[in-house]
Amino acid sequence: MSVTTSIHTFIADYLKKDTVSFHMPGHKGSHLYRRFGYHEFLDGIMDYDITEIAGADNLFQAEGIIKRVQDRYARLYDCKKSYLLINGSSGGNIAAILASVSKGKQLIMARNCHKSVFNALTLGGIRPVYAYPEMIEEFGISGAVSPVEIERLIKENPDAEAVMITSPNYYGVCSDIKAIAEIAHQYGKILIVDEAHGAHLHFSAALPPSAIQSGADLVINSTHKTLASFTQSAALHYNTDLVDQYILEDKLQCVQSTSPSYLLMTSMDISAEILERHGHELMDEWVRNLTAFYDRITSIPGVKTMGKLKGLDWTKINLGMGELGIAGAQLDKIFLNDYNIYIELFTGDWIMAMTGIGNTDKDYDRFANALEEISRKTRESGLEIQRTEHKVDSLVPPKQAVMFDIPVAKKRVKLADSKGMICGSSIIPYPPGIPLICPGERIDDDAIAYIQAMRNMGEKVIGVNEFGEVIVGR
Ligand SMILES: Cc1ncc(COP(=O)(O)O)c(C=O)c1O
Repeated sequence: MSVTTSIHTFIADYLKKDTVSFHMPGHKGSHLYRRFGYHEFLDGIMDYDITEIAGADNLFQAEGIIKRVQDRYARLYDCKKSYLLINGSSGGNIAAILASVSKGKQLIMARNCHKSVFNALTLGGIRPVYAYPEMIEEFGISGAVSPVEIERLIKENPDAEAVMITSPNYYGVCSDIKAIAEIAHQYGKILIVDEAHGAHLHFSAALPPSAIQSGADLVINSTHKTLASFTQSAALHYNTDLVDQYILEDKLQCVQSTSPSYLLMTSMDISAEILERHGHELMDEWVRNLTAFYDRITSIPGVKTMGKLKGLDWTKINLGMGELGIAGAQLDKIFLNDYNIYIELFTGDWIMAMTGIGNTDKDYDRFANALEEISRKTRESGLEIQRTEHKVDSLVPPKQAVMFDIPVAKKRVKLADSKGMICGSSIIPYPPGIPLICPGERIDDDAIAYIQAMRNMGEKVIGVNEFGEVIVGR
């Protein structure tokens, strides 16, 4: 692909369009900062890009202004300590796991964890024990991880040192973290929750409880995904006696840049200040706008939503128009091309519109108006409606029960020729970044067919290069 546009001109052109964002980041542009008077920061962004000058503190031994922000997060999230992350939740996940599980020991983990969790396994020489999320058959998507399954795995693997759960998952489905925390603690295990997609849950009683409220030991939040800090900023919350704080801090400095961005950290500071001062008002607005949106779209013919499914973080709007013959990928394209509405994710018959603290009532109106128009035009088109069905859910990992040692020496082979080989590098549909095949798993016919189906549907699969090759062990 030959590209003539620079990153700069691409973004400048994008900004000239009248777009609506139902994808990350959660701030949805500068309007929230302007609403609350942070013009000076926005207008002076280049000048705020400083380094560790005298008085600017040090992220890895925070005692001054950075510590003050971290304390602010700890207060906001009601936990012992919070750490600012400048390599996203990815860095936080890796540090949390390395601080909790020793080399050669096991981590009981949901198989639909983010790739950073799998990277932590490789880095730490940690062995996974997979818990498979339950399927929500009605929607054909992966759901919660059951506490009963976690208890069974703990009993079968008494040497496992920690449990890692992703909650909410990409669709917003939350696991029962309270029950899982009770079980983990009963057996003396550490519970780490990748709550990358749920940084906002702590602030509204209308949503499922946050992982900290539910008793998790270490919780990782991508504040950039749904709240108002910049992309790549995140927070790790520490609320336990089971993990040594100083070992955790050591792991954090192993996986993060030694030049932390003061732009990211300032945005963390501002996002926290906005939450402290206006959190109630903003969360109420968000819930009100969502409620009005859901109420309105229930009457649109052909639109199906997962709505307020039990345990769902319904700030993630999962909807489909399969009944009108429109698959998720098609709907995503219609929104983009005809309405300038950017959606976070599509899979099978579904799209997932990720709302954030920065979405306004106008965004929801444009979204609902577009849905009404698409529904009307499709029904009026006179074309015979072909019902789509949920054929491939790229977020449901196939079961790969057998784990081999993660291969060190590696080579490339065509995906089609890789049957029976041990995968050497994660194969990951993006989004959501959950490995379909992990290093150390054997590639079989089903997996090959699955990946080919996804590539044919136009979904991006990281780990398969432009020549259709994958990395395997020698
Ligand atoms: C479940 C989950 N965890 C962690 C991450 C990584 O978060 P970040 O992009 O903040 O590094 C992602 C990214 O999409 C994710 O989906």
